[in-house]
Amino acid sequence: MIDILRTRRSVRNFEKKPIGLQSLDVMKEALLRCPSSRNSTPWTFIFVDDPDTLLRLSQAREQGSGFLKGAALAIVICGDESKSDVWVEDCAIAATVVQLTAHALGLGSCWTQVRRRPHSAEKSAGEYVRETLGIPKALHVECMIGIGYPADDRKDAKELDYGKIRHNRYGESAP
Ligand SMILES: Cc1cc2nc3c(=O)[nH]c(=O)nc-3n(C[C@H](O)[C@H](O)[C@H](O)COP(=O)(O)O)c2cc1C
Repeated sequence: MIDILRTRRSVRNFEKKPIGLQSLDVMKEALLRCPSSRNSTPWTFIFVDDPDTLLRLSQAREQGSGFLKGAALAIVICGDESKSDVWVEDCAIAATVVQLTAHALGLGSCWTQVRRRPHSAEKSAGEYVRETLGIPKALHVECMIGIGYPADDRKDAKELDYGKIRHNRYGESAP
């Protein structure tokens, strides 16, 4: 696991290559195995691989979603507020798990935030994605995970801020 975490970075440039069926199956299984509060499973996962639809999803936000047009797949993660008051946490866990699974399969991925982000002055990104994919009004769109084979090998190291970790009390740094 730590090797997966050490080598994962967000990937926004992808090869023009479809994702194999076996990898798709593994990602679906990983999503369905995720923990959720009270096992409420308040999510729906929409797998989008149609290039025209990916292009439309890439226009969900003025910035931050453009890379989706080059992805082989977007997984749109929707949450049902009526099934859980903590659907945001449940959906975020699923998003993270599928990103790590994708990396373990040799794929790259990046998160596009949808919840609480605008599409335009008049419309939220969530409404735009809902309209684009025919998602019922009762569901919220949390995020879209763009996935594909990485076009560049990101080797830039991540700075680890150990000051974020405290020991026993807030004021005590970890040894
Ligand atoms: C909740 C969340 C929202 C994010 N939203 C976006 C986004 O809208 N567009 C984007 O390109 N990257 C997005 N990212 C990716 C972050 O920019 C990225 O994880 C961060 O810069 C750290 O880089 P790393 O993933 O390579 O470690 C998001 C990540 C998270 C966890």
